[in-house]
Amino acid sequence: MPDPDTDATRSALALKLADATLETLRDPRGALLPILHAIQEEMGCIPESVIPAVAERLNLTRAEVYGVVTFYADFRTEPLGRSVVHVCLAESCQALGSAAVADAAKAHLGVDFEGTTADGAFTLRKVYCLGNCALSPSVMIGGDVHGRVSPGAVGELIEAGRAGP
Ligand code: FES
Repeated sequence: MPDPDTDATRSALALKLADATLETLRDPRGALLPILHAIQEEMGCIPESVIPAVAERLNLTRAEVYGVVTFYADFRTEPLGRSVVHVCLAESCQALGSAAVADAAKAHLGVDFEGTTADGAFTLRKVYCLGNCALSPSVMIGGDVHGRVSPGAVGELIEAGRAGP
Protein backbone atom coordinates (compact mmCIF):
# COMPACT_ATOMS: atom_id res chain seq x y z
CA MET A 1 0.00 0.00 0.00
CA PRO A 2 1.41 3.42 -0.92
CA ASP A 3 2.55 5.75 1.83
CA PRO A 4 -0.62 7.83 2.42
CA ASP A 5 1.32 10.52 4.27
CA THR A 6 2.42 12.53 1.29
CA ASP A 7 0.16 14.83 -0.69
CA ALA A 8 1.95 13.85 -3.90
CA THR A 9 1.20 10.18 -3.32
CA ARG A 10 -2.40 10.95 -2.49
CA SER A 11 -2.97 13.10 -5.56
CA ALA A 12 -1.17 10.71 -7.90
CA LEU A 13 -3.16 7.77 -6.62
CA ALA A 14 -6.42 9.69 -6.83
CA LEU A 15 -5.74 10.59 -10.45
CA LYS A 16 -4.78 7.05 -11.33
CA LEU A 17 -7.93 5.65 -9.79
CA ALA A 18 -10.06 8.36 -11.36
CA ASP A 19 -8.67 7.68 -14.83
CA ALA A 20 -9.11 3.94 -14.47
CA THR A 21 -12.67 4.29 -13.30
CA LEU A 22 -13.59 6.88 -15.91
CA GLU A 23 -12.64 4.49 -18.67
CA THR A 24 -15.45 2.22 -17.61
CA LEU A 25 -18.06 4.87 -17.07
CA ARG A 26 -19.61 7.18 -19.62
CA ASP A 27 -20.98 9.73 -17.18
CA PRO A 28 -18.27 11.43 -15.14
CA ARG A 29 -20.76 12.46 -12.44
CA GLY A 30 -21.79 8.83 -12.07
CA ALA A 31 -18.14 7.98 -11.58
CA LEU A 32 -17.79 9.90 -8.32
CA LEU A 33 -19.03 7.22 -5.93
CA PRO A 34 -17.03 4.36 -7.53
CA ILE A 35 -13.92 6.55 -7.47
CA LEU A 36 -14.40 7.45 -3.82
CA HIS A 37 -14.96 3.79 -2.92
CA ALA A 38 -11.80 2.83 -4.82
CA ILE A 39 -9.73 5.47 -3.06
CA GLN A 40 -10.99 4.42 0.35
CA GLU A 41 -10.37 0.77 -0.42
CA GLU A 42 -6.82 1.51 -1.52
CA MET A 43 -5.85 4.06 1.11
CA GLY A 44 -8.11 3.18 4.04
CA CYS A 45 -9.75 6.59 3.88
CA ILE A 46 -10.36 9.53 1.54
CA PRO A 47 -7.76 12.12 2.57
CA GLU A 48 -9.00 15.68 2.08
CA SER A 49 -5.88 16.32 -0.01
CA VAL A 50 -7.18 14.08 -2.83
CA ILE A 51 -10.48 15.93 -3.17
CA PRO A 52 -9.17 18.72 -5.47
CA ALA A 53 -7.71 16.17 -7.90
CA VAL A 54 -10.93 14.15 -8.01
CA ALA A 55 -13.03 17.28 -8.45
CA GLU A 56 -10.84 18.48 -11.32
CA ARG A 57 -11.01 15.16 -13.14
CA LEU A 58 -14.81 15.01 -12.88
CA ASN A 59 -15.37 18.71 -13.58
CA LEU A 60 -17.04 19.11 -10.22
CA THR A 61 -16.37 21.66 -7.50
CA ARG A 62 -14.34 20.69 -4.47
CA ALA A 63 -17.41 21.48 -2.37
CA GLU A 64 -19.50 19.00 -4.38
CA VAL A 65 -16.97 16.21 -3.84
CA TYR A 66 -16.45 17.11 -0.19
CA GLY A 67 -20.23 17.16 0.28
CA VAL A 68 -20.53 13.60 -1.00
CA VAL A 69 -17.61 12.40 1.14
CA THR A 70 -19.13 13.86 4.29
CA PHE A 71 -22.73 12.86 3.44
CA TYR A 72 -22.14 9.11 3.44
CA ALA A 73 -21.31 7.65 6.83
CA ASP A 74 -19.16 4.93 5.25
CA PHE A 75 -16.68 7.42 3.81
CA ARG A 76 -13.89 8.58 6.09
CA THR A 77 -11.35 11.35 5.70
CA GLU A 78 -9.14 9.86 8.42
CA PRO A 79 -7.96 6.24 8.64
CA LEU A 80 -9.58 3.93 11.17
CA GLY A 81 -7.68 2.80 14.22
CA ARG A 82 -6.01 -0.62 14.24
CA SER A 83 -9.04 -1.97 16.13
CA VAL A 84 -12.58 -0.67 15.71
CA VAL A 85 -14.96 -0.70 18.66
CA HIS A 86 -18.61 -0.81 17.58
CA VAL A 87 -21.22 -0.15 20.26
CA CYS A 88 -24.73 -1.23 19.27
CA LEU A 89 -27.36 1.47 19.75
CA ALA A 90 -30.30 -0.33 18.15
CA GLU A 91 -33.54 -0.95 20.02
CA SER A 92 -32.78 -4.11 21.95
CA CYS A 93 -29.40 -2.90 23.12
CA GLN A 94 -30.77 0.55 23.93
CA ALA A 95 -33.45 -1.04 26.11
CA LEU A 96 -30.79 -2.90 28.06
CA GLY A 97 -28.41 -0.04 28.67
CA SER A 98 -26.15 0.42 25.66
CA ALA A 99 -26.10 4.20 26.18
CA ALA A 100 -24.24 3.68 29.44
CA VAL A 101 -21.90 1.19 27.75
CA ALA A 102 -21.23 3.77 25.06
CA ASP A 103 -20.49 6.44 27.66
CA ALA A 104 -18.07 4.08 29.42
CA ALA A 105 -16.33 3.26 26.11
CA LYS A 106 -16.02 6.97 25.30
CA ALA A 107 -14.57 7.67 28.73
CA HIS A 108 -12.14 4.76 28.47
CA LEU A 109 -10.89 5.75 25.03
CA GLY A 110 -11.12 9.51 25.48
CA VAL A 111 -12.91 9.93 22.15
CA ASP A 112 -16.48 10.40 20.95
CA PHE A 113 -18.14 8.30 18.23
CA GLU A 114 -16.12 8.34 14.99
CA GLY A 115 -13.07 9.39 16.98
CA THR A 116 -9.72 7.62 16.88
CA THR A 117 -7.38 7.51 19.84
CA ALA A 118 -4.21 9.57 19.54
CA ASP A 119 -2.07 6.42 19.31
CA GLY A 120 -4.16 5.09 16.42
CA ALA A 121 -5.07 1.96 18.37
CA PHE A 122 -8.86 2.32 18.42
CA THR A 123 -11.72 3.98 16.58
CA LEU A 124 -15.09 4.14 18.34
CA ARG A 125 -18.16 3.77 16.17
CA LYS A 126 -21.85 3.18 16.71
CA VAL A 127 -23.73 0.47 14.90
CA TYR A 128 -27.39 -0.45 14.59
CA CYS A 129 -27.68 -4.15 15.39
CA LEU A 130 -24.89 -6.69 15.43
CA GLY A 131 -27.29 -9.63 15.15
CA ASN A 132 -26.68 -10.44 18.78
CA CYS A 133 -29.89 -8.98 20.20
CA ALA A 134 -30.55 -11.95 22.52
CA LEU A 135 -27.39 -11.01 24.39
CA SER A 136 -27.90 -7.24 24.47
CA PRO A 137 -26.19 -4.92 25.05
CA SER A 138 -23.65 -5.89 22.41
CA VAL A 139 -20.27 -4.53 21.43
CA MET A 140 -17.97 -5.63 18.61
CA ILE A 141 -14.25 -5.13 19.06
CA GLY A 142 -11.94 -5.93 16.19
CA GLY A 143 -14.55 -8.23 14.64
CA ASP A 144 -15.33 -10.14 17.84
CA VAL A 145 -18.88 -9.68 19.13
CA HIS A 146 -19.41 -9.55 22.89
CA GLY A 147 -22.81 -9.83 24.56
CA ARG A 148 -24.28 -8.66 27.85
CA VAL A 149 -21.57 -6.04 28.10
CA SER A 150 -21.74 -3.85 31.18
CA PRO A 151 -20.35 -0.34 31.48
CA GLY A 152 -17.88 -1.62 34.06
CA ALA A 153 -16.56 -4.36 31.77
CA VAL A 154 -16.26 -2.57 28.45
CA GLY A 155 -12.87 -1.01 29.18
CA GLU A 156 -11.30 -4.38 29.89
CA LEU A 157 -12.85 -5.86 26.73
CA ILE A 158 -11.48 -2.96 24.69
CA GLU A 159 -7.98 -3.50 26.04
CA ALA A 160 -8.20 -7.22 25.28
CA GLY A 161 -8.99 -6.24 21.68
CA ARG A 162 -5.93 -4.04 21.29
CA ALA A 163 -4.13 -5.00 18.05
CA GLY A 164 -0.74 -4.33 16.60
CA PRO A 165 2.15 -2.27 18.01
S1 FES B 1 -30.02 -4.52 18.80
FE1 FES B 1 -27.97 -4.66 19.45
S2 FES B 1 -27.33 -6.56 18.59
FE2 FES B 1 -29.32 -6.29 17.80
